[in-house]
Amino acid sequence: MAELTCVGCGPGDPDLLTVKAVRAIRGADVIMCPTSREGKESIAYSIIASVVDAAKRPQVENLVFPMVKDREVLESTWKANARAIAERVRGGKNVVYLTVGDPSLYSTWIYLQRELKSSYPEIKVSVVPGIVSMFAFASKVGISIAEGDETVAVIPACYDLSRVRETAKNCDTMIFLKDGRYFDQVISLLREAGFPSSSLFAIAQDVGTDEEVVKKLTLGEVTKETLTSKYFSIMVVKRA
Ligand SMILES: C[S@@+](CC[C@H](N)C(=O)[O-])C[C@H]1O[C@@H](n2cnc3c(N)ncnc32)[C@H](O)[C@@H]1O
Repeated sequence: MAELTCVGCGPGDPDLLTVKAVRAIRGADVIMCPTSREGKESIAYSIIASVVDAAKRPQVENLVFPMVKDREVLESTWKANARAIAERVRGGKNVVYLTVGDPSLYSTWIYLQRELKSSYPEIKVSVVPGIVSMFAFASKVGISIAEGDETVAVIPACYDLSRVRETAKNCDTMIFLKDGRYFDQVISLLREAGFPSSSLFAIAQDVGTDEEVVKKLTLGEVTKETLTSKYFSIMVVKRA
């Protein structure tokens, strides 16, 4: 009986793929990859391309997940993409679905898994965890995410930012993901909330790729030029 495996591909460096991830990828008949628009290369696929078994010639298919917030569009996308995956598995193919980092953190997989479970419960599903981008980032910059009794918040920076002020009052480490284009607004809010300017500040873009940018300074030293401007950015601010 064919199966579906979701593979977490880690942050970008193929050396950070787990042994289990490589085994699943090399055993796949079909590799299905998320992308944000038609014709755009899948970032997740670019991470694993070098470990694909060329002799096995797996079929590689992109599934488009448009980056929109309209709930109706999102729901019909999840349904259509879950159906496409289910059709391949029902047709006897072992399918691997890829996600960047780990599948359980802000990933397309979360919605697909929900839809597959309710509409195609007979399909056997397994998940291979991946290294999360913020942990790859922490080891690169040489910082701890949390020590002792410190608390941590993970915040997607492209939604309602008014929550940042409240979180900043109650949290030691704040990790901002999803979209560096909003990071200047986040910095203003942290300053308004009185987050100490001696706090550690670290920022990165495209971790684990040839375009990687990594910086570490204090919150007080941050200027507009320090910030990144790409979606694939991470920012950590940690109370001194
Ligand atoms: C849709 S979320 C996926 C998170 C992913 N599942 C994980 O475990 O890291 C995408 C966001 O993760 C962060 N991200 C993932 N990989 C990254 C990388 N290699 N470099 C910088 N940021 C990354 C960025 O904040 C990006 O906007």
